[in-house]
Amino acid sequence: MSNQLLYSGKAKDLFETDNTEELLVVYKDQATAFNGVRKEKIPGKGSLNCKISAFIYDYLQKNGIETHLIKNVSDHEQLVKKTELIPIEVVLRNKIAGSFAKKFALTEGKSLNPPVIEYYFKSDELGDPAINESQIESINIATAEELKNIKSQTLKINDLLKTLFDKDDLDLVDFKLEFGRVDNKIILIDEFSPDNCRLWDQTSHQSLDKDVFRKNEADLVTTYQKVLNRLEGAK
Ligand code: C5P
Repeated sequence: MSNQLLYSGKAKDLFETDNTEELLVVYKDQATAFNGVRKEKIPGKGSLNCKISAFIYDYLQKNGIETHLIKNVSDHEQLVKKTELIPIEVVLRNKIAGSFAKKFALTEGKSLNPPVIEYYFKSDELGDPAINESQIESINIATAEELKNIKSQTLKINDLLKTLFDKDDLDLVDFKLEFGRVDNKIILIDEFSPDNCRLWDQTSHQSLDKDVFRKNEADLVTTYQKVLNRLEGAK
């Protein structure tokens, strides 16, 4: 495999491979918060994210959601399909938390029915500003039809993952997704891990996600390992 680095992100590096249709994702032992202002080396984090995301993407694929994941090739590396990135972050919220609570001065924890869907324009320089559907269409980030597809996939993913986490006594509070174009289709890319979702224990209401790092509440690796153990059925 040739190892040309294509992109270095906060949590992952992306490399070309000999196959022009595939990329190698290398998960880093690093956590960042507050748009990269806080950055720490955390041994073991990369492999946990890689395993959790593979578990979830396998489950989604078995349930009709196409994802970029081909296979895990080591404990912290994945082979994925190369896609054309759609530069928006799609956030779905089932309960009030995080920036939504802050923005509207609301108490965390109340259910949002129907769930809230928000879009952010992916740009480190601009700090990922919020963007709405008409802006996405008018500046040609995605067509109306593509957005409809993204929204319906996001809602289906939410239903599937709420069911999955509910079996593990976890509430799926909110999450962020990214999508890419390949072969005239829109598929799920990036990762799904406690880095980009909020999971609350249904009994203790404790966070089992990156909020433990953002708020200095608990050890990140121990917390993410608990999520993986629950997913693998070893509560
Ligand atoms: O901070 P906020 O409440 O807007 O985050 C909503 C959800 O989206 C959280 O689960 C958070 O981890 C995720 N998120 C993310 N990447 C971002 C912004 C938010 O994964 N750049």
